[in-house]
Amino acid sequence: MNKYLVLFFATLCLVGKVLSCENGMNPYYSTPEQVPVPLTAVTGDELSYHQGYMQQVIDFAKEKGALFVASIVHKNGTQIVIDMNLGRQMKDLTQHAEIVVIQKANALYGISNFSDYTLYTTGESCLMCQGAILYSGFSKVVYGTSIKTLYCDKCMSQVPIDSTFLTAYGYGLGDGWNRPTIIGGVLSNITDNQVFKNYCNMTTSIFKVHPLCVDPNNSSSSLTFSFLTLLILITYLFI
Ligand SMILES: *[C@@H]1O[C@H](CO)[C@@H](O)[C@H](O)[C@H]1NC(C)=O
Ligand SMILES: *[C@@H]1O[C@H](CO)[C@@H](O)[C@H](O)[C@H]1NC(C)=O
Ligand SMILES: *[C@@H]1O[C@H](CO)[C@@H](O)[C@H](O)[C@H]1NC(C)=O
Ligand SMILES: *[C@@H]1O[C@H](CO)[C@@H](O)[C@H](O)[C@H]1NC(C)=O
Ligand SMILES: *[C@@H]1O[C@H](CO)[C@@H](O)[C@H](O)[C@H]1NC(C)=O
Ligand SMILES: *[C@@H]1O[C@H](CO)[C@@H](O)[C@H](O)[C@H]1NC(C)=O
Repeated sequence: MNKYLVLFFATLCLVGKVLSCENGMNPYYSTPEQVPVPLTAVTGDELSYHQGYMQQVIDFAKEKGALFVASIVHKNGTQIVIDMNLGRQMKDLTQHAEIVVIQKANALYGISNFSDYTLYTTGESCLMCQGAILYSGFSKVVYGTSIKTLYCDKCMSQVPIDSTFLTAYGYGLGDGWNRPTIIGGVLSNITDNQVFKNYCNMTTSIFKVHPLCVDPNNSSSSLTFSFLTLLILITYLFI
């Protein structure tokens, strides 16, 4: 009787484990071909070009004591707007840096289609901002620190969904139906260490979370899987 119970639950766990590995978020929608869209690896001149603009948002962040700073740059190299998260100042927590610069560019210059522009941001865009970026038709996004680093390494509250993942679902959005290219980790050696704080030990900070992060290469999760399989086999043998 107990053996059957163990067998039943072990099998249930195994089935659950196998199902949880599948990448079906909603059975009604098909999963994009590429999730996430790979970050474009840039080198040489293109990298130094982006580093120049990233340095400007970093400098702005340091000057203002801000974390999230974004700018919008025309493809001819003109930076049309730079600003920071104004959530607290404006008492409107949707005023993330990306939203602020998109709305400013619209108010100042009447731009609503950003296909000729690149958005720079010190930190990878959240779901809300990446959504706004998709709907505004940006062709390129360049960020410093990743959501993964902010959440897993710095214990900062986040929706831990990569901007590339959301972007992969952006059917018909982006620059004339092309989803934006996302270039991550530009000058992250600076943004990771000099712009963003580590909240892991800041017990009173409103940003602090206990991140639930797994290392896909850590054998301990595959160990659970092997253990369950073994348990089922052993129970079968002795039943
Ligand atoms: C570059 O683009 C900006 C924004 O559209 C425009 O104001 C500026 O005149 C352009 N500069 C050049 C040199 O074309
Ligand atoms: C934005 O402009 C580009 C280039 O002119 C065009 O291909 C695209 O369709 C426009 N997007 C929207 C949503 O109008
Ligand atoms: C960060 O990386 C850039 C490019 O790889 C390098 O030029 C710069 O010196 C580095 N800065 C720091 C503070 O490590
Ligand atoms: C943060 O906490 C960890 C362990 O909880 C400790 O090892 C580390 O030294 C602490 N770091 C700081 C900056 O206090
Ligand atoms: C896991 O290991 C593989 C092979 O060594 C490597 O290609 C991959 O980047 C690793 N993944 C992570 C998230 O570290
Ligand atoms: C693997 O994951 C376990 C449990 O989450 C953790 O305790 C351990 O430190 C991880 N090992 C490595 C090498 O990251």
